[in-house]
Amino acid sequence: MMKRIRKAVLPVAGLGTRFLPATKAVPKEMLTVVDRPVVQHVVDEAREAGIEHFIFVTGRGKAVIEDHFDIAYELDRTLQERGKHDAYEALKKDLPAAGQTSFTRQQEPLGLGHAVWCAREIVGDEPFAVILPDMLSRGSMVQMLAAYETHGGNIIAVEEVAPDQTHQYGIVSVGQEYGDTFEITGMVEKPPKGTAPSNYIISGRYILQPEIFSILERGERGAGGEIQLTDGMKRLSETQKFYGMHYRGKTYDTGSKLGFLVANLAYGLERPELRDALRQEIEALLKKG
Ligand code: UTP
Repeated sequence: MMKRIRKAVLPVAGLGTRFLPATKAVPKEMLTVVDRPVVQHVVDEAREAGIEHFIFVTGRGKAVIEDHFDIAYELDRTLQERGKHDAYEALKKDLPAAGQTSFTRQQEPLGLGHAVWCAREIVGDEPFAVILPDMLSRGSMVQMLAAYETHGGNIIAVEEVAPDQTHQYGIVSVGQEYGDTFEITGMVEKPPKGTAPSNYIISGRYILQPEIFSILERGERGAGGEIQLTDGMKRLSETQKFYGMHYRGKTYDTGSKLGFLVANLAYGLERPELRDALRQEIEALLKKG
């Protein structure tokens, strides 16, 4: 029988150098999109899909993420004393239950593959999700779990980009197609310009079988001298099936300045209390420019 996906690994140990100086003392995962930290948006998305346990792979300077997913007693008491019951209830609703979060440290930022490997003891011997918390793609975990129920094996969410962008990402090759999903026949991390096998980028959501850990254990270095998850998955694909899933939605890369700004506008425009005023402000700014 196919094992259910219960756990998600969220690697948050990266340095966020693209977003300095904002990320000097504040982890990029705690930057806010409208009024929620990016990482809260991602946890919301995964809880909606039925994920029960969140494993954060953190690093130095990231302790505030752990505090964010804890009860804040003084704040709770103050909200109640002041009659702000809605705000109090909203905070409670956002919080995974006791025991549903785990934190482990990646002591050195040796790459995404290494960060995932750091979660091996907590994941154990079951398939699991990997969610890159700086990529916002609402509804993607629901789609990922549906694809997993159809195919089993390993699943990677992909999105199409312009051909001149492919050198910045992990890229998959496309085999047999089944509507929204397809067999992956190859993978490459950050291919040199003009050599990418397709325009489909690996976009930050994965379902992986636990055999990936023994491959990552070897610590082989890839692009940029880092232990790359893509290289580990490529190795695993020699013995297991990998499927791509076309994510039907838009991903915002909040680790880049442009992606972060656009995410704030897009999520802001979806808020009924902000929509009209924000639209007017944007239109006024565009007229001025
Ligand atoms: P990125 O390359 O987007 O993150 O890694 P970064 O290194 O934080 O950002 P820049 O490029 O310097 O601006 C993708 C994901 O992998 C995690 C990051 O936290 C991010 O979620 N990561 C990356 C780790 O946890 N450890 C690493 O060693 C590298």
